[in-house]
Parts: sequence; structure tokens; C-alpha cells
Amino acid sequence: MSSIESALNEIRVFHPSEEFVKQANVSGMDAYLALCKEAEDDYQGFWGRLANENIAWKKPFTKVLDESNAPFFKWFEDGELNVSYNCLDRHLATQPKKTAIIFEADNGAVTNISYHELHARVCQFANGLKSRGIKMGDRVVVYMPMSIEAVVAMQACARIGAIHSVVFGGFSSKSLYERIHDAKACAVITSDAQMRGGKVIPLKPAVDEALTLGDCRSVHSVIVYQRAKCDTAWNAEHDIWWHDLIAGQSEVCDPQWVGAEHPLFILYTSGSTGAPKGVQHSSGGYLLMVKLSLQWVFDYKPTDVFWCTADVGWITGHSYVAYGPLAMGATQVIFEGVPTYPDAGRFWKMIQDHKVTTFYTAPTAIRSLIKLGEDLPDKYDLSSLRLLGSVGEPINPDAWMWYYNKIGQARCPIVDTWWQTETGANMIAPLPGAMPIKPGTCTLPLPGIKSGIVDEVGHDVLGQNGGFLVIKRPFPSQIRAIWGDPERYKKSYFPEEMNGYYLAGDSAHLDEDGYTWIMGRIDDVLNVSGHRLGTMEIESALAAHELVSEAAVVGRPHDIKGEAISAFVVLKGARPEDPAEIRKIAQILRDWVGKQIGPIAKPDEIRFGDNLPKTRSGKIMRRLLRTIAKGDEITQDVSTLENPAILEQLKNAVH
Ligand code: PRX
Repeated sequence: MSSIESALNEIRVFHPSEEFVKQANVSGMDAYLALCKEAEDDYQGFWGRLANENIAWKKPFTKVLDESNAPFFKWFEDGELNVSYNCLDRHLATQPKKTAIIFEADNGAVTNISYHELHARVCQFANGLKSRGIKMGDRVVVYMPMSIEAVVAMQACARIGAIHSVVFGGFSSKSLYERIHDAKACAVITSDAQMRGGKVIPLKPAVDEALTLGDCRSVHSVIVYQRAKCDTAWNAEHDIWWHDLIAGQSEVCDPQWVGAEHPLFILYTSGSTGAPKGVQHSSGGYLLMVKLSLQWVFDYKPTDVFWCTADVGWITGHSYVAYGPLAMGATQVIFEGVPTYPDAGRFWKMIQDHKVTTFYTAPTAIRSLIKLGEDLPDKYDLSSLRLLGSVGEPINPDAWMWYYNKIGQARCPIVDTWWQTETGANMIAPLPGAMPIKPGTCTLPLPGIKSGIVDEVGHDVLGQNGGFLVIKRPFPSQIRAIWGDPERYKKSYFPEEMNGYYLAGDSAHLDEDGYTWIMGRIDDVLNVSGHRLGTMEIESALAAHELVSEAAVVGRPHDIKGEAISAFVVLKGARPEDPAEIRKIAQILRDWVGKQIGPIAKPDEIRFGDNLPKTRSGKIMRRLLRTIAKGDEITQDVSTLENPAILEQLKNAVH
């Protein structure tokens, strides 16, 4: 493991103010340690108590955890609940008029919607889904912009026990097709277009195209929310407008009670092989941990105005937009647009306008906003803020300090939350009134989460050495399966040599206080602007182009995006010498990848060579490619290279 070394050497420590500690849900280190001890002493009793306290069960569970068929764990299995009931109906008696969602559109128009209204809309839409024959266990793909309707669609699926699979609106028709096909979805919910940065960006055409790309016979309904009123091609066989679907539907819809293990959703994410994996989550265990993390990590108070900027197409938007805040009965902000429109002060203005107390965003957004307007926050009143959050990738100490001083005005703790699509909720993150924070570390695991750092054979590494990040005991919100592929689930997350531990796919090390420092992925997964992309996915997309003979993709450090995508391509024909010709081909390939996967997967730079550097056994020397992409001197042994001249060729990147 000596190759995994931490580059960071951060020594600053920030303690929460006395005032913050006093009001915190978990107040002081002793309170945190007491929760950890409770879990240690009686693991099942601990989770059982919290599940009883936090979830409204239709039928109580009698058994907390079933480990008999590990790693296919079952939590609260004989309990019955409905997630939408827990997010909406529960609040109707106590706070029907409380604002559930403050929606700010791209153009600045604001819509407030109360718990009462949200409940009515979800019921009405759920009845609409039922009118199309959609029922418990059916899969429904949601391909929507950030909107109240996206949340309504997800909650309505949960209400009737249908399993949603949200596909990020930035994914291409081909990616959408693959997900529809894999999940055998019976319906797609979309909108005519999305509004971003003052532009109308059509969405429905991608659905139309997706349905022609292969076998989508399972799809009998395409439900279209009219957002932009733009021209929309129509297929009367299966298309129906959202407003027509709900017309005349009742605002009452009894929730479908489901077992705690009933899949709430599938969310596709990138792994180390070409095909994205459908991460399947449960209902009971998932809901429990999104709620607990809001209380523990986000120190949720009923007076809070919570704002998580993530799109509902990602796990963060599931847990901290569509489910967590509603389950807590919170008021939350949902934003349709982009942080740079009309200028890079948009986030700060919105914090001021909506008196946001808790702001949760990604380091890549922070870094780009620093670049575009370091002092812009000074123009706004940010005094409503009391807590800041960071997610998606390691936050570099410089961005952390700016976030802390400029946005949090040295008053708000920052919760740097480590977790994954597969973990469903925060795993390693500060409890802000309990532990001091340091720039760049996600600190300590949540109570009940037993994380560790191990070597290749699952043994704890000593001291502060780097190793593989694992979670040693099952936890309620963990991935239950990869949709349709139980073997891949076992192989990816519970490889035999890991002692039954959950292998996260990250490397990390501990510091002298036992704080976890994430160092990066151990597999071929890139983290570009907080978005997860498999190098193999991009490689297969490139290789599928008629001009391309072979391609390899690696990440290289990038000061805004975290990682940039660097592609190495061997063309089928002769490598052109003319720079204009090379640029033209690079552009064709970039656009092609955009169409195959989505614009986020377009390579930032492409290098062309007559061949790729390979070992004698024919393996691509990826470490060498990473060195080249970084622009570093090559120090590796290259004596096995058949044609060392290609190293010269590959040095020239086309951006
Ligand atoms: O590498 C870790 C990084 O993002 C990966 C998970 O990506 P995804 O499933 O898309 O979920 C992102 C949102 C939870 C992890 O394996 N990551 C996530 N949060 C952090 C992080 N790396 C360092 N610090 C974090 N706070």
C-alpha cells in the first residue's frame, strides 16, 4: 500500500462555538461517543430503537437485522411502511400549512408549496399513475429537470410502491435507453424541456430517441410535464401530458403499504466495467438513515431552511432533496437553474432571499464560484446561515477556507460528508456540535457506522498508513442489490478477501485523531465535477466510433472539476499530421461521447498516437498515461515499450 500516500498535510482545527454546541442535536463529543457506545454494546437494539422512533410503521417489525444470507442483508424485514406517508401524511396533522418547498425557477420566479398542497399533488399524480395501470413493483423512469414535479413524481411512485429510477437530465438518449431497458420500465416521466441559464433545453426528444434505440416494449406510457410550452413531437400511442393525466384525479390516494425491504428506487451509477449498475435501495433502512443524518449531521431544526443544490438525478438529490428534508418536515429550497446565471452570485442571492440556514453543495461548485467572483458573496446578507455542507469529492483546504470564511463568515461549521450512491446516506461526516473539524477531512463515522482502513487481505492497516476504505458491519441504508445482477453485487462490494466488509472503492487514511482522509478511488472510476463516471464507459463510447481503433481514458487533476477526462486514441487510418485536421477529429469524437453518454463525459483533451503504451502482455500502462496526462516527467520503466516514440506523440493534447 506504500503507493497510496496522502498529499495533504493540513493542521488547522476549528472548534464549534459554545453557542452552536449548546443548541446542537448531538451536543458535545461525549454525546457522540455515547451514541457510538450504544451501537457497540447492542448493535441491533440501537438500530431498532432508532427505527421505532423515526419511522411511522403500519406494521411494526419484530426482527432488526437478518444476516443469514450475507451479503444480502435484510433490515426490519417484517415491518410495513410507506415512504411517502412518512414524508407527507405524517405532517398533515401537525404542520399542514408549513412551506415544504420554495421553488426558484431559472428566471427567478418563486413558488411556495405547503405540505398540504404537496400531499394533494402527490396523491393526484399517484392516482394518475394508477389510471395507467402502474402498480407496486413496476419500474418508472424519471427524466426531469429540477422542479416540484420531479419530487412529486418520485413521491408518487413511492406512494403506490412503484420503483423509480431517476436518470439525470444531462444524460444522452443512449444512456437513457440503457437504463429504461435494464430496468424494464413501464413508464417514463419527463418534461417538454428544461430551463437553464435563460435557455430552453428540450428533454422529450431524448426520450423519443431512446425508445427507438432498442427493445423498449415494456414502456406503455410517456408522461410529459409541460415546462416550456415548446413544440413537442407526439406519439399518441403512449404519450400523455402531465396535466391531462391528473385532470379529474382525486387528491386523496391511500398509500400502498410495503415491506421494509421493498425497493424504493434504483439509481444507475458508474462502476469499473462498461455498463452502469442499477443500485437498488430499500424503503425502511434507507428512510431511517436519511432522517438520522439530517438530525445528526445537518443538526436539523424545525425552523431551518434547508438547501441542497444537488440535482434529483444523483443520489444526493434523492436523499437530501426528494426524501430526507420531507421526512423531517423541513422547508427546503429547490432551484431549477445554474449557479452562474444571471451571474455567479446567484447562490448567495438565493441564500439571502430565502433566508437559508443550511447550505449543502459540492466542492466543484465552490471552486468555480471562487474563480468567477471571489468577493461576490460580500454583496449579500448571508447571516441566516448556520451550517454548511460539502459532498461528492474531497474538498481542498483552500476552497474549504474560502467557504468557511466567505460564506460561513467563520461562524458556521462545515460538514464534509463522505458517502456514495451505494450507501444511501452520509457515512463519515462531522456531527457539527460534537467534534472539531479540519479542512479536507470528513472526520469520524456516524454512530453505528463502523468504517475502517484495510490492506488487500482485509487486515487493518497500522497507524496513519493508507489503505482501502471499508465498512465493517451492515448498516440500514446500504445498497441491497445491483438490479438484475446479484453476482456483480457480491463481486463489487463484498470480494472474498475482504472478510465480509463492504468495500467502498476509495482509498483513505486516518490521522492522529482517527479522522478519515479520503484520497481517491481505487478503481477506474473518475470524479468529474462531483459526478461519477467510469473510464471504461468513456473508452467503450470512443471505441464505438468508426474512426477509432483503440482508446484509453484516465483522469488528471483539475483545479475546478477535481478531475478532468484525458483520452488517448489510436485511429483506424493514418494519424493525421495537420493540426486543423487533428482538431476536427477531436471535436467529432468529443461530440460523439456527448451523444453516447452525455455532455459531462466529453473528454477535456484527446491525444492521438500510432499505438498505446502497453506491457509485454498487452496491458495498457495506465499509470504511464496518467503521468503523461498530468504533464509530469516519465519516471516509470518504459523499457518494455515496443515503440517508445509514441510517448512523444502522446504528449500533444488537443483541448
Ligand atoms: O470517491 C468518493 C467521492 O464520491 C464517490 C461516490 O460518488 P457517488 O456515488 O456519485 O456519490 C456522490 C455523492 C454522495 C465516493 O466513493 N466522495 C463523495 N463524498 C466525498 C467523496 N470524497 C471525499 N470526500 C467526500 N466528502
